[in-house]
Amino acid sequence: MYNGWPVETDEDKKMLMDQVGAFAREVVAPAAKHHDETGEFPTSHIKQMAEMGLMGMMVAEEFGGAGLDVVSYAMCMEEISAACASTGVIMSVNNSLVCWPLDAYGTAEQKKKWLTPLARGEKLGCFALSEPSAGSDPGGLKLTATKVDGGYKLRGSKNWITNGKEADVAIVFATVDPAKGNKGVTAFIVDTKSKGFSVSKLEDKLGITASSTAQLFFDDVLVPADCLLGAEGQGLKIALSTLDGGRIGIASQALGIGRCALEASKKFASEREQFGGPISKLQAIQFHIADMATRMQSARLLTWNAARLKDAGVNYSKEAAMAKLAASEAAMWTATKAIQVHGGYGYTKEYVVERNFRDAKITEIYEGTSEIQRIVIAAKEFSELTK
Ligand code: CAA
Repeated sequence: MYNGWPVETDEDKKMLMDQVGAFAREVVAPAAKHHDETGEFPTSHIKQMAEMGLMGMMVAEEFGGAGLDVVSYAMCMEEISAACASTGVIMSVNNSLVCWPLDAYGTAEQKKKWLTPLARGEKLGCFALSEPSAGSDPGGLKLTATKVDGGYKLRGSKNWITNGKEADVAIVFATVDPAKGNKGVTAFIVDTKSKGFSVSKLEDKLGITASSTAQLFFDDVLVPADCLLGAEGQGLKIALSTLDGGRIGIASQALGIGRCALEASKKFASEREQFGGPISKLQAIQFHIADMATRMQSARLLTWNAARLKDAGVNYSKEAAMAKLAASEAAMWTATKAIQVHGGYGYTKEYVVERNFRDAKITEIYEGTSEIQRIVIAAKEFSELTK
Protein backbone atom coordinates (compact mmCIF):
# COMPACT_ATOMS: atom_id res chain seq x y z
CA MET A 1 0.00 0.00 0.00
CA TYR A 2 1.44 3.38 -1.03
CA ASN A 3 1.48 6.02 1.71
CA GLY A 4 3.18 8.95 0.04
CA TRP A 5 0.17 11.02 -1.06
CA PRO A 6 0.09 14.76 -0.29
CA VAL A 7 -0.60 15.62 3.36
CA GLU A 8 -3.65 17.66 2.41
CA THR A 9 -5.29 14.71 0.60
CA ASP A 10 -8.96 14.86 1.61
CA GLU A 11 -11.20 11.92 2.53
CA ASP A 12 -12.70 11.71 -0.99
CA LYS A 13 -9.25 11.41 -2.55
CA LYS A 14 -8.17 8.85 0.06
CA MET A 15 -11.21 6.72 -0.76
CA LEU A 16 -10.51 7.08 -4.48
CA MET A 17 -6.88 6.06 -3.99
CA ASP A 18 -7.88 3.07 -1.85
CA GLN A 19 -10.25 1.91 -4.58
CA VAL A 20 -7.91 2.58 -7.53
CA GLY A 21 -4.88 1.26 -5.62
CA ALA A 22 -6.63 -2.02 -4.82
CA PHE A 23 -7.78 -2.40 -8.43
CA ALA A 24 -4.25 -1.65 -9.74
CA ARG A 25 -2.57 -4.10 -7.35
CA GLU A 26 -5.11 -6.92 -7.45
CA VAL A 27 -6.35 -6.80 -11.05
CA VAL A 28 -3.97 -4.85 -13.31
CA ALA A 29 -0.54 -5.77 -11.88
CA PRO A 30 -0.94 -9.58 -11.93
CA ALA A 31 -1.72 -9.48 -15.67
CA ALA A 32 0.93 -6.93 -16.65
CA LYS A 33 3.63 -9.51 -17.50
CA HIS A 34 1.19 -11.34 -19.77
CA HIS A 35 0.19 -8.13 -21.53
CA ASP A 36 3.84 -7.13 -21.93
CA GLU A 37 4.81 -10.49 -23.40
CA THR A 38 1.84 -10.92 -25.72
CA GLY A 39 1.12 -7.31 -26.61
CA GLU A 40 -2.54 -8.07 -25.94
CA PHE A 41 -4.64 -4.94 -25.40
CA PRO A 42 -6.01 -4.92 -21.81
CA THR A 43 -9.67 -4.76 -22.94
CA SER A 44 -11.30 -5.99 -19.73
CA HIS A 45 -9.18 -3.69 -17.54
CA ILE A 46 -10.08 -0.66 -19.63
CA LYS A 47 -13.76 -1.65 -19.35
CA GLN A 48 -13.49 -1.86 -15.56
CA MET A 49 -11.61 1.45 -15.46
CA ALA A 50 -14.43 3.02 -17.48
CA GLU A 51 -16.92 1.77 -14.89
CA MET A 52 -14.73 3.32 -12.16
CA GLY A 53 -14.79 6.70 -13.96
CA LEU A 54 -11.09 6.60 -14.87
CA MET A 55 -11.45 7.21 -18.61
CA GLY A 56 -12.90 10.73 -18.38
CA MET A 57 -11.76 11.77 -14.94
CA MET A 58 -11.71 15.55 -15.38
CA VAL A 59 -14.86 15.84 -17.52
CA ALA A 60 -18.02 17.15 -15.83
CA GLU A 61 -20.62 14.53 -14.86
CA GLU A 62 -23.04 16.25 -17.28
CA PHE A 63 -20.86 14.98 -20.14
CA GLY A 64 -20.23 11.50 -18.78
CA GLY A 65 -17.10 12.25 -16.75
CA ALA A 66 -16.16 11.82 -13.09
CA GLY A 67 -15.87 15.59 -12.48
CA LEU A 68 -12.59 15.23 -10.56
CA ASP A 69 -9.57 17.52 -10.35
CA VAL A 70 -6.21 17.21 -12.10
CA VAL A 71 -4.40 16.20 -8.89
CA SER A 72 -6.74 13.18 -8.55
CA TYR A 73 -6.06 12.33 -12.18
CA ALA A 74 -2.27 12.51 -11.62
CA MET A 75 -2.53 10.28 -8.54
CA CYS A 76 -4.69 7.68 -10.32
CA MET A 77 -2.43 7.71 -13.39
CA GLU A 78 0.57 6.97 -11.15
CA GLU A 79 -1.31 4.14 -9.44
CA ILE A 80 -2.40 2.44 -12.68
CA SER A 81 1.01 2.94 -14.32
CA ALA A 82 2.82 1.45 -11.32
CA ALA A 83 0.86 -1.72 -12.13
CA CYS A 84 1.04 -1.58 -15.94
CA ALA A 85 2.55 1.25 -18.00
CA SER A 86 0.67 0.20 -21.15
CA THR A 87 -2.68 0.50 -19.38
CA GLY A 88 -1.48 3.85 -18.02
CA VAL A 89 -0.83 5.39 -21.42
CA ILE A 90 -4.14 4.14 -22.85
CA MET A 91 -5.88 5.92 -19.95
CA SER A 92 -3.72 9.04 -20.28
CA VAL A 93 -4.35 9.53 -24.00
CA ASN A 94 -8.12 9.16 -23.61
CA ASN A 95 -8.25 11.59 -20.66
CA SER A 96 -5.65 14.21 -21.56
CA LEU A 97 -5.39 14.19 -25.32
CA VAL A 98 -8.93 13.35 -26.39
CA CYS A 99 -11.48 14.27 -23.71
CA TRP A 100 -9.67 17.45 -22.70
CA PRO A 101 -9.56 19.21 -26.11
CA LEU A 102 -13.17 18.18 -26.80
CA ASP A 103 -14.18 19.64 -23.45
CA ALA A 104 -12.11 22.81 -23.86
CA TYR A 105 -12.78 23.59 -27.53
CA GLY A 106 -15.89 21.58 -28.49
CA THR A 107 -19.37 23.01 -29.04
CA ALA A 108 -22.25 21.83 -26.81
CA GLU A 109 -23.38 19.49 -29.62
CA GLN A 110 -19.86 18.07 -30.09
CA LYS A 111 -19.57 17.46 -26.35
CA LYS A 112 -22.90 15.67 -26.28
CA LYS A 113 -22.15 13.52 -29.33
CA TRP A 114 -18.41 12.82 -29.01
CA LEU A 115 -17.20 13.68 -25.52
CA THR A 116 -19.91 11.90 -23.52
CA PRO A 117 -19.25 8.33 -24.78
CA LEU A 118 -15.47 8.93 -24.62
CA ALA A 119 -15.60 10.20 -21.03
CA ARG A 120 -17.81 7.26 -20.04
CA GLY A 121 -15.23 4.96 -21.62
CA GLU A 122 -17.82 3.49 -23.99
CA LYS A 123 -15.59 4.69 -26.80
CA LEU A 124 -11.82 5.10 -26.96
CA GLY A 125 -9.96 7.98 -28.56
CA CYS A 126 -6.58 8.78 -30.08
CA PHE A 127 -4.71 12.01 -30.80
CA ALA A 128 -3.37 12.15 -34.34
CA LEU A 129 -0.79 14.92 -34.55
CA SER A 130 2.61 13.40 -35.40
CA GLU A 131 3.55 12.47 -38.96
CA PRO A 132 6.49 10.71 -40.59
CA SER A 133 8.19 14.10 -41.13
CA ALA A 134 6.55 16.13 -38.33
CA GLY A 135 7.26 14.87 -34.80
CA SER A 136 8.85 17.54 -32.61
CA ASP A 137 7.77 20.19 -35.15
CA PRO A 138 4.00 19.69 -35.54
CA GLY A 139 3.68 23.00 -37.42
CA GLY A 140 5.32 21.21 -40.35
CA LEU A 141 2.56 18.60 -40.72
CA LYS A 142 1.46 17.69 -44.24
CA LEU A 143 -1.90 15.91 -43.90
CA THR A 144 -4.22 18.10 -45.97
CA ALA A 145 -7.82 19.11 -45.31
CA THR A 146 -9.46 20.24 -48.52
CA LYS A 147 -12.79 22.03 -48.31
CA VAL A 148 -15.56 20.21 -50.17
CA ASP A 149 -19.35 20.39 -50.17
CA GLY A 150 -20.52 19.72 -46.60
CA GLY A 151 -17.10 19.51 -44.98
CA TYR A 152 -13.45 18.59 -45.62
CA LYS A 153 -11.54 15.74 -47.22
CA LEU A 154 -8.49 14.57 -45.28
CA ARG A 155 -5.54 13.06 -47.12
CA GLY A 156 -2.17 11.92 -45.77
CA SER A 157 -0.78 9.85 -42.93
CA LYS A 158 -0.07 9.99 -39.20
CA ASN A 159 2.65 8.21 -37.23
CA TRP A 160 3.18 6.92 -33.68
CA ILE A 161 -0.46 7.22 -32.69
CA THR A 162 -1.17 5.65 -29.29
CA ASN A 163 -4.55 3.81 -29.23
CA GLY A 164 -4.56 4.14 -33.04
CA LYS A 165 -5.62 0.53 -33.61
CA GLU A 166 -8.51 0.48 -31.11
CA ALA A 167 -9.74 4.10 -31.29
CA ASP A 168 -13.33 4.83 -32.23
CA VAL A 169 -12.63 8.55 -32.47
CA ALA A 170 -9.49 10.44 -33.52
CA ILE A 171 -8.62 14.07 -32.91
CA VAL A 172 -6.83 14.77 -36.18
CA PHE A 173 -4.66 17.75 -37.04
CA ALA A 174 -4.43 18.71 -40.70
CA THR A 175 -3.51 21.76 -42.74
CA VAL A 176 -6.13 23.68 -44.67
CA ASP A 177 -3.31 25.53 -46.47
CA PRO A 178 0.31 24.33 -46.33
CA ALA A 179 1.51 27.82 -47.37
CA LYS A 180 0.18 29.18 -44.07
CA GLY A 181 2.53 27.03 -41.94
CA ASN A 182 1.49 27.03 -38.26
CA LYS A 183 -1.57 29.15 -39.09
CA GLY A 184 -2.99 26.53 -41.44
CA VAL A 185 -3.13 23.76 -38.84
CA THR A 186 -6.73 22.79 -38.05
CA ALA A 187 -8.25 20.21 -35.68
CA PHE A 188 -10.98 17.73 -36.66
CA ILE A 189 -13.02 15.08 -34.87
CA VAL A 190 -12.88 11.95 -37.02
CA ASP A 191 -14.98 8.81 -36.71
CA THR A 192 -12.49 6.00 -37.38
CA LYS A 193 -15.24 4.04 -39.16
CA SER A 194 -15.22 6.71 -41.89
CA LYS A 195 -14.59 5.49 -45.43
CA GLY A 196 -10.92 5.92 -46.37
CA PHE A 197 -9.57 5.69 -42.80
CA SER A 198 -7.21 2.79 -42.15
CA VAL A 199 -4.50 1.58 -39.80
CA SER A 200 -1.59 1.08 -42.20
CA LYS A 201 1.09 -0.17 -39.78
CA LEU A 202 1.52 -1.19 -36.13
CA GLU A 203 4.88 -0.53 -34.49
CA ASP A 204 6.80 -3.38 -32.80
CA LYS A 205 8.15 -1.60 -29.73
CA LEU A 206 10.73 -1.82 -26.93
CA GLY A 207 8.17 -1.20 -24.19
CA ILE A 208 4.49 -0.35 -23.46
CA THR A 209 3.82 -3.26 -25.79
CA ALA A 210 0.14 -3.74 -24.82
CA SER A 211 -0.81 -0.29 -26.07
CA SER A 212 -0.95 0.10 -29.83
CA THR A 213 1.25 2.59 -31.66
CA ALA A 214 -0.14 2.95 -35.14
CA GLN A 215 0.44 4.56 -38.47
CA LEU A 216 -2.87 5.85 -39.80
CA PHE A 217 -3.76 6.49 -43.42
CA PHE A 218 -6.39 8.98 -44.58
CA ASP A 219 -7.48 8.31 -48.14
CA ASP A 220 -9.78 11.26 -48.83
CA VAL A 221 -11.68 10.78 -45.57
CA LEU A 222 -14.80 12.97 -45.66
CA VAL A 223 -15.22 14.86 -42.40
CA PRO A 224 -18.52 16.75 -41.97
CA ALA A 225 -18.24 20.50 -41.31
CA ASP A 226 -19.69 20.07 -37.81
CA CYS A 227 -16.62 17.98 -36.92
CA LEU A 228 -14.28 20.95 -37.15
CA LEU A 229 -12.89 21.36 -33.61
CA GLY A 230 -12.37 25.05 -32.82
CA ALA A 231 -11.75 27.31 -35.80
CA GLU A 232 -9.75 26.86 -39.00
CA GLY A 233 -6.11 27.72 -38.23
CA GLN A 234 -6.52 27.26 -34.46
CA GLY A 235 -5.23 23.67 -34.57
CA LEU A 236 -1.64 24.21 -33.42
CA LYS A 237 -2.80 26.11 -30.35
CA ILE A 238 -5.32 23.35 -29.62
CA ALA A 239 -2.58 20.73 -30.02
CA LEU A 240 0.01 22.51 -27.88
CA SER A 241 -2.40 23.46 -25.09
CA THR A 242 -3.65 19.86 -25.08
CA LEU A 243 -0.08 18.59 -24.81
CA ASP A 244 0.51 20.82 -21.76
CA GLY A 245 -2.06 18.72 -19.91
CA GLY A 246 -0.86 15.51 -21.55
CA ARG A 247 2.57 16.13 -20.05
CA ILE A 248 1.09 15.93 -16.53
CA GLY A 249 -0.38 12.55 -17.51
CA ILE A 250 2.93 11.23 -18.87
CA ALA A 251 4.84 12.61 -15.87
CA SER A 252 2.43 10.61 -13.68
CA GLN A 253 2.90 7.52 -15.83
CA ALA A 254 6.68 7.90 -15.36
CA LEU A 255 6.16 8.25 -11.59
CA GLY A 256 4.29 4.95 -11.60
CA ILE A 257 7.01 3.16 -13.57
CA GLY A 258 9.80 4.55 -11.35
CA ARG A 259 7.85 3.76 -8.18
CA CYS A 260 7.40 0.16 -9.28
CA ALA A 261 11.17 -0.13 -9.90
CA LEU A 262 11.97 1.41 -6.51
CA GLU A 263 9.52 -0.80 -4.59
CA ALA A 264 10.84 -3.91 -6.35
CA SER A 265 14.43 -2.90 -5.51
CA LYS A 266 13.66 -2.42 -1.80
CA LYS A 267 11.96 -5.81 -1.65
CA PHE A 268 14.79 -7.53 -3.52
CA ALA A 269 17.51 -5.87 -1.39
CA SER A 270 15.74 -6.98 1.80
CA GLU A 271 15.61 -10.61 0.64
CA ARG A 272 18.85 -11.06 -1.33
CA GLU A 273 21.72 -12.21 0.87
CA GLN A 274 25.42 -11.64 0.09
CA PHE A 275 28.41 -11.34 2.43
CA GLY A 276 26.42 -12.98 5.22
CA GLY A 277 23.29 -10.83 5.25
CA PRO A 278 20.68 -8.99 3.20
CA ILE A 279 22.21 -6.53 0.72
CA SER A 280 19.89 -3.84 2.16
CA LYS A 281 22.39 -3.63 5.03
CA LEU A 282 25.16 -2.56 2.61
CA GLN A 283 25.64 1.18 2.33
CA ALA A 284 26.28 0.93 -1.42
CA ILE A 285 22.72 -0.39 -1.86
CA GLN A 286 21.24 2.00 0.71
CA PHE A 287 22.69 4.97 -1.21
CA HIS A 288 21.12 3.72 -4.45
CA ILE A 289 17.74 3.40 -2.73
CA ALA A 290 18.05 6.84 -1.11
CA ASP A 291 18.90 8.49 -4.43
CA MET A 292 16.09 6.67 -6.25
CA ALA A 293 13.51 7.68 -3.63
CA THR A 294 14.71 11.30 -3.59
CA ARG A 295 14.64 11.71 -7.37
CA MET A 296 11.19 10.12 -7.63
CA GLN A 297 9.76 12.29 -4.86
CA SER A 298 11.25 15.49 -6.37
CA ALA A 299 9.59 14.65 -9.67
CA ARG A 300 6.32 13.80 -7.90
CA LEU A 301 6.21 17.20 -6.20
CA LEU A 302 6.82 18.94 -9.55
CA THR A 303 4.01 16.89 -11.09
CA TRP A 304 1.53 17.71 -8.33
CA ASN A 305 2.58 21.36 -8.57
CA ALA A 306 1.72 21.43 -12.28
CA ALA A 307 -1.57 19.62 -11.58
CA ARG A 308 -2.47 22.12 -8.85
CA LEU A 309 -1.75 25.05 -11.18
CA LYS A 310 -3.95 23.50 -13.87
CA ASP A 311 -6.69 23.04 -11.26
CA ALA A 312 -6.29 26.70 -10.26
CA GLY A 313 -6.84 27.76 -13.89
CA VAL A 314 -3.51 29.56 -14.28
CA ASN A 315 -0.87 29.01 -16.97
CA TYR A 316 1.02 25.82 -16.20
CA SER A 317 2.84 25.19 -19.48
CA LYS A 318 6.37 25.57 -18.02
CA GLU A 319 5.55 23.61 -14.87
CA ALA A 320 4.04 20.75 -16.93
CA ALA A 321 7.21 20.64 -19.05
CA MET A 322 9.35 20.61 -15.87
CA ALA A 323 7.22 17.80 -14.43
CA LYS A 324 7.45 15.68 -17.58
CA LEU A 325 11.20 16.31 -17.94
CA ALA A 326 11.97 15.53 -14.30
CA ALA A 327 9.64 12.55 -13.96
CA SER A 328 10.62 10.82 -17.20
CA GLU A 329 14.35 11.23 -16.52
CA ALA A 330 13.88 10.16 -12.87
CA ALA A 331 11.97 7.06 -14.00
CA MET A 332 14.62 6.08 -16.57
CA TRP A 333 17.40 6.70 -14.05
CA THR A 334 15.57 4.83 -11.28
CA ALA A 335 14.83 1.85 -13.53
CA THR A 336 18.52 1.71 -14.51
CA LYS A 337 19.59 1.78 -10.85
CA ALA A 338 16.94 -0.84 -10.05
CA ILE A 339 18.57 -3.26 -12.47
CA GLN A 340 21.94 -2.49 -10.84
CA VAL A 341 20.51 -3.27 -7.38
CA HIS A 342 19.13 -6.57 -8.72
CA GLY A 343 22.46 -7.44 -10.38
CA GLY A 344 22.23 -10.33 -12.86
CA TYR A 345 18.64 -11.08 -11.80
CA GLY A 346 17.55 -7.61 -12.90
CA TYR A 347 18.73 -8.30 -16.44
CA THR A 348 16.29 -11.20 -16.77
CA LYS A 349 12.59 -11.14 -17.62
CA GLU A 350 11.83 -12.83 -14.33
CA TYR A 351 12.00 -9.50 -12.49
CA VAL A 352 9.69 -6.55 -13.09
CA VAL A 353 12.56 -4.03 -13.23
CA GLU A 354 13.50 -5.32 -16.69
CA ARG A 355 10.02 -4.24 -17.91
CA ASN A 356 10.23 -0.96 -15.98
CA PHE A 357 13.52 -0.20 -17.77
CA ARG A 358 11.96 -0.78 -21.21
CA ASP A 359 8.72 1.07 -20.35
CA ALA A 360 10.47 4.09 -18.82
CA LYS A 361 12.31 5.02 -22.03
CA ILE A 362 9.22 6.13 -23.95
CA THR A 363 8.31 8.70 -21.29
CA GLU A 364 11.42 10.66 -22.36
CA ILE A 365 10.16 10.66 -25.95
CA TYR A 366 6.39 10.92 -26.45
CA GLU A 367 4.26 14.01 -25.85
CA GLY A 368 7.43 16.02 -26.38
CA THR A 369 10.98 14.70 -26.00
CA SER A 370 13.14 15.80 -23.05
CA GLU A 371 14.85 18.20 -25.47
CA ILE A 372 11.47 19.78 -26.36
CA GLN A 373 10.60 20.14 -22.66
CA ARG A 374 13.90 22.00 -22.14
CA ILE A 375 13.04 24.29 -25.09
CA VAL A 376 9.63 25.07 -23.55
CA ILE A 377 11.15 25.69 -20.09
CA ALA A 378 14.00 27.87 -21.38
CA ALA A 379 11.64 29.92 -23.59
CA LYS A 380 9.39 30.64 -20.59
CA GLU A 381 12.37 31.45 -18.35
CA PHE A 382 13.71 34.01 -20.85
CA SER A 383 10.27 35.50 -21.51
CA GLU A 384 9.86 36.01 -17.75
CA LEU A 385 13.25 37.83 -17.66
CA THR A 386 12.20 40.43 -20.24
CA LYS A 387 8.93 41.32 -18.44
N1 CAA B 1 -0.59 26.47 -25.59
C1 CAA B 1 -1.26 27.18 -26.54
N2 CAA B 1 -0.64 27.78 -27.58
C2 CAA B 1 0.70 27.65 -27.67
C3 CAA B 1 1.45 26.91 -26.74
C4 CAA B 1 0.76 26.32 -25.67
N3 CAA B 1 1.41 25.60 -24.73
N4 CAA B 1 2.76 26.96 -27.08
C5 CAA B 1 2.82 27.70 -28.20
N5 CAA B 1 1.57 28.11 -28.54
C6 CAA B 1 1.19 28.93 -29.70
C7 CAA B 1 2.07 30.19 -29.80
O1 CAA B 1 1.50 31.26 -29.07
C8 CAA B 1 2.07 30.46 -31.29
O2 CAA B 1 0.88 31.11 -31.65
P1 CAA B 1 0.95 32.46 -32.57
O3 CAA B 1 1.57 32.00 -33.86
O4 CAA B 1 -0.46 32.88 -32.71
O5 CAA B 1 1.83 33.41 -31.84
C9 CAA B 1 1.99 29.06 -31.90
O6 CAA B 1 1.43 28.19 -30.90
C10 CAA B 1 3.34 28.53 -32.30
O7 CAA B 1 4.19 28.68 -31.17
P2 CAA B 1 5.77 28.63 -31.30
O8 CAA B 1 6.21 29.59 -32.37
O9 CAA B 1 6.36 28.74 -29.95
O10 CAA B 1 5.91 27.16 -31.86
P3 CAA B 1 7.11 26.38 -32.48
O11 CAA B 1 6.71 25.96 -33.82
O12 CAA B 1 8.40 27.14 -32.30
O13 CAA B 1 7.13 25.07 -31.55
C11 CAA B 1 7.49 23.68 -29.63
C12 CAA B 1 7.26 25.10 -30.19
C13 CAA B 1 7.65 23.83 -28.14
C14 CAA B 1 8.75 23.07 -30.22
C15 CAA B 1 6.27 22.81 -29.97
O14 CAA B 1 6.17 22.62 -31.34
C16 CAA B 1 6.25 21.46 -29.27
O15 CAA B 1 5.83 21.36 -28.14
N6 CAA B 1 6.69 20.38 -30.00
C17 CAA B 1 6.57 19.03 -29.50
C18 CAA B 1 5.34 18.37 -30.03
C19 CAA B 1 4.97 17.15 -29.26
O16 CAA B 1 4.92 17.15 -28.04
N7 CAA B 1 4.67 16.08 -29.99
C20 CAA B 1 4.23 14.88 -29.38
C21 CAA B 1 3.23 14.22 -30.25
S1 CAA B 1 1.78 13.67 -29.54
C22 CAA B 1 2.11 12.16 -28.85
O17 CAA B 1 3.20 11.80 -28.49
C23 CAA B 1 0.85 11.44 -28.72
C24 CAA B 1 0.76 10.05 -28.31
O18 CAA B 1 0.06 9.29 -28.97
C25 CAA B 1 1.30 9.63 -26.97
